Amino acid sequence: MLVTGAAGMLGSELLLRVPAGLEGVGSDLIPGPSVRAARVDLADPAAVERLWREFGPFEGVIHCAAYTAVDKAEAEPELAAKVNVEASRVLAQACARHAAHLVAVSTDFVFDGTASVPYVETDAPAPLSVYGRTKLEGERATLALHARGAAIVRTQWLYGPRGKHFPRTIVGFAREKGRLKVVADQSGCPTSTLELAPALWDVLSARATGVFHGACEGSTSWFGFTQAILEECGLAQVVLEPCTTQDFPRPARRPAFSALDSSKLAALRGRRFAPWRVALRNYLNVEPL
Ligand SMILES: NC(=O)c1ccc[n+]([C@@H]2O[C@H](COP(=O)([O-])OP(=O)(O)OC[C@H]3O[C@@H](n4cnc5c(N)ncnc54)[C@H](OP(=O)(O)O)[C@@H]3O)[C@@H](O)[C@H]2O)c1
Repeated sequence: MLVTGAAGMLGSELLLRVPAGLEGVGSDLIPGPSVRAARVDLADPAAVERLWREFGPFEGVIHCAAYTAVDKAEAEPELAAKVNVEASRVLAQACARHAAHLVAVSTDFVFDGTASVPYVETDAPAPLSVYGRTKLEGERATLALHARGAAIVRTQWLYGPRGKHFPRTIVGFAREKGRLKVVADQSGCPTSTLELAPALWDVLSARATGVFHGACEGSTSWFGFTQAILEECGLAQVVLEPCTTQDFPRPARRPAFSALDSSKLAALRGRRFAPWRVALRNYLNVEPL
């Protein structure tokens, strides 16, 4: 099994959770220290063929490599497209050629956030940012080039061990400054990689195809998520103020409400994701901040 983006937050968790009896190989631009991993630029078809020759064959692939710098992507649309579209295309073609099942990870940022109930897989995407547009184009290329052997799993608000993410940043600021202002008008489902990684292996082993949503249960705002993080980390004394998206202008527009409905994936797996607050507590038991 191949995991791309294996040095990243989600890819590294996937490699630690390769199901018993299977062998996992990771690839990244710069491999992490702990895994059998290859250094590969996935946008380079020759490098991907070499990867198959040297480390393959792979029965299955979980594709986590991506250009994930949402704001920077507004100024670097070509680079974002090279990774999120071109590399996805190259990988889907390689998987189709070598009959490897492919699970590609995507994002809630394919939606415009105007919904009032959680998004289901059949809702029409309408991305607001370069990142969202390139991820959507990557999804479409993947499904078109490997129609009978590819699944897309859209997730959101990820955090987990070994990553640079919101809970870690918030706890750092809280300890340093003692007071925080956090956006209260954007909602979604904070999702732990500890929850998502086993779900992705389940999608791969079921050889499922089509689009799935995969996020923790429930939803909250960044403000609500921050309140929970501070409480769980014994920092409830930190002064926390709500603010609006307009108070903190960023280069990329973000969906105001992008909670994902993961019922379809729950039906496939026979189990639901943990509620986001329970998942946060479980993560903090593994990696106290
Ligand atoms: N983080 C979130 O909140 C979130 C939310 C929704 C969906 N997702 C999706 O979930 C997946 C995993 O996200 P993550 O947060 O784990 O990302 P991450 O930590 O940024 O990891 C992505 C990895 O991909 C590598 N990469 C970039 N370009 C590459 C290329 N051309 N060839 C090979 N590897 C390349 C990156 O290397 P460098 O670091 O060296 O560039 C990085 O190690 C992505 O598909 C992302 O779009 C993430």
